Amino acid sequence: MGPGPPGRLMRVSGMRGMGKTVLLNEIGSYARALGWTMLDETASEGFCDRLLAAANPDRRVGRITAGPSILGVSLGTVELDRAALSLREALGALAKRDNPGVLITLDEVQDASLYEMRALSVAIQHIIREDRNIAFVFAGLPSMIENVVNGRTLTFLRRAVPVELGPVDIEEVAQSFARTMAETGMAIAQEVCEELAESTQGYPFMVQLVGYYVWQAARKAGTDTVDKQLAQEGTLQARRRFDATVIEPVLQRLPGTAISYLLAMASDGAKPSESGEVARRLGKTLQQVSTVRARLMREDVIESRSWGRVSFAIPHMADYLNEHRDELEAEIASL
Ligand SMILES: Nc1ncnc2c1ncn2[C@@H]1O[C@H](COP(=O)(O)OP(=O)(O)OP(=O)(O)O)[C@@H](O)[C@H]1O
Ligand SMILES: [Mg+2]
Repeated sequence: MGPGPPGRLMRVSGMRGMGKTVLLNEIGSYARALGWTMLDETASEGFCDRLLAAANPDRRVGRITAGPSILGVSLGTVELDRAALSLREALGALAKRDNPGVLITLDEVQDASLYEMRALSVAIQHIIREDRNIAFVFAGLPSMIENVVNGRTLTFLRRAVPVELGPVDIEEVAQSFARTMAETGMAIAQEVCEELAESTQGYPFMVQLVGYYVWQAARKAGTDTVDKQLAQEGTLQARRRFDATVIEPVLQRLPGTAISYLLAMASDGAKPSESGEVARRLGKTLQQVSTVRARLMREDVIESRSWGRVSFAIPHMADYLNEHRDELEAEIASL
């Protein structure tokens, strides 16, 4: 392969629970099986330091990442160059030895500082130019990964092959439930499989949770038939788990104004809401809610598929908000 062949640079985007980390791990095992050296990191602060340490375990290296208070203020091109150079040396040396190749995977790129992202991409760009075997796969939430890739100084990353993970076809999910249940000796009607599939909205994480909890419910009941009632029981438990692992962490990161906006949307259930109507419900003008709306879009909590409308980007969020409306409102009022 020549320098910078497609696939050497790949970006994976998808909503929470869509399978980005699973895919990175799969790519990693594949690369490992080919004898590649793997460096996998999460893009939280200091990832360049951690990559440097991992690439260069036998040599002591100085920290290359400054604290966040300094970042963006005094760090100039000199520091950036130095950071990129250290990384380039360390990664280049790794790519040079008898290795078939080096794969770097970086997860949760929406959390990356532009400074570190630049340092890493400059380093990788150089190594690719030198025709060494290095590949870089990074993953993150859709609109935030856009922000990172479109950052002024990161043109190189725009060449990454985009892989967008979306919901799985419901019919396929139903078939996979039927197959998996049959494999584990559970009888289940086609109709029940379809209902279960519907409840996942094609979301890989929900598919996994629903399958797991329904099967557990049947086991606990000591039966080998999944009827409608068991299916409902399992689905409910899956939903609770989904609430705790996906929805609540998202809400916890948001300010009260954003939660109020979401609650106003939830009055329409899971259906798309008119932005103007949401603002009216909040007693505000469109202009006044534009900042909070933009933030929710940027953080991939809501999306706008047609002009003037917004909808929830995370399944079951409307249900969650409506079920917890009173406590959420009380919490906002107490802030
Ligand atoms: N293709 C798949 N096959 C089977 N299970 C999957 C698949 N994709 C995802 N899952 C299941 O969904 C769950 C969530 O996947 P994963 O952690 O990769 O999502 P993510 O996109 O990285 O989410 P986040 O943005 O929250 O990190 C995992 O526990 C995984 O088991
Ligand atoms: Mg993940």
